[in-house]
Amino acid sequence: MSFTQIRQAPARLNRSELAVPGSSPKFFAKAAQGAADIVFLDLEDAVAPDDKPQARRNIIAALNEVDWGEKVVSLRINGLDTHYMYRDVVEVVEGGGGRLDLIMIPKVGTAADVYALDMLVSQIEAAKGWKKRIGFELIIESALGMQNVEAIAAASPRNESLHFGVADYSASIRARTVAIGGANPDYAVLTDKDGAGTRQVHWGDMWHYALARMVVAARANGLRPVDGPFGDFSDPDGYRAAARRAAALGCEGKWAIHPSQVALANECFSPSEEEVGRARRILEAMAEATKAGRGAVALDGKLIDLASIRQAEALVKKAEAIGRP
Ligand code: GLV
Ligand code: MG
Repeated sequence: MSFTQIRQAPARLNRSELAVPGSSPKFFAKAAQGAADIVFLDLEDAVAPDDKPQARRNIIAALNEVDWGEKVVSLRINGLDTHYMYRDVVEVVEGGGGRLDLIMIPKVGTAADVYALDMLVSQIEAAKGWKKRIGFELIIESALGMQNVEAIAAASPRNESLHFGVADYSASIRARTVAIGGANPDYAVLTDKDGAGTRQVHWGDMWHYALARMVVAARANGLRPVDGPFGDFSDPDGYRAAARRAAALGCEGKWAIHPSQVALANECFSPSEEEVGRARRILEAMAEATKAGRGAVALDGKLIDLASIRQAEALVKKAEAIGRP
């Protein structure tokens, strides 16, 4: 390990993050009772400009009146380049009576964007005398944000998670797609001819670089990396495939832009019983090996060593947080 210690953001489950438009209050109570680990109430892109003042009022009422129980509640504000943002923060944070857990900042481009929000929120909390500190979720969804992702991740002790906003990111880098996430048939390689003269098209993951880069910046700063939306909510298999590859890359979870995606996210980002069982066996085998003065042993014909302990411990810790045996 480096001598530099990484401060970890407060531990929260973040397998599923359900988006609920602030202009649709009829969905609030259901979201509060649903299975999403985090619910974000949206004032940004799901709300038309004329509806923003009413959406703020809806959210303030919901923060005060809906029984959210233990649910982690976030507020997606408008971007710093709009004139909506200051009212989103001042009105909703003040009016929400301290119930908000997180603020989601879209289209973050520089560390200074986060600094500005930190200043504003710090003043509100100080004026109100609140002891609970609101955390920040930062959406990386522009070329500028991706270029500065390391500095952004380190910009505030409020930072908890980085989110890959694939829709706006596509627009920002001028990617030739109009889909929200998922695979793209143009992002593929054509194999050479095999013995029978056949060629195959192998699809790739065009978001691999961006997601992997964001994951590294998040983890190096103790934050949760979270994959963003998958637009086709009538394609659960496509969602699962996108979620699994995000989990394989190190993401903690994925957005649900439709309630049906919550269960899919919870499924894909929870370790299976088999994985947890193997992790526990690795810990047992390594405990035996350590007792015998060895740093590496074989388990089921595969090498395991001290790094395997760290992988297994992370997995078991996650299972315990989820309440898995
Ligand atoms: C999310 O905000 C996205 O743009 O994908
Ligand atoms: Mg966006």
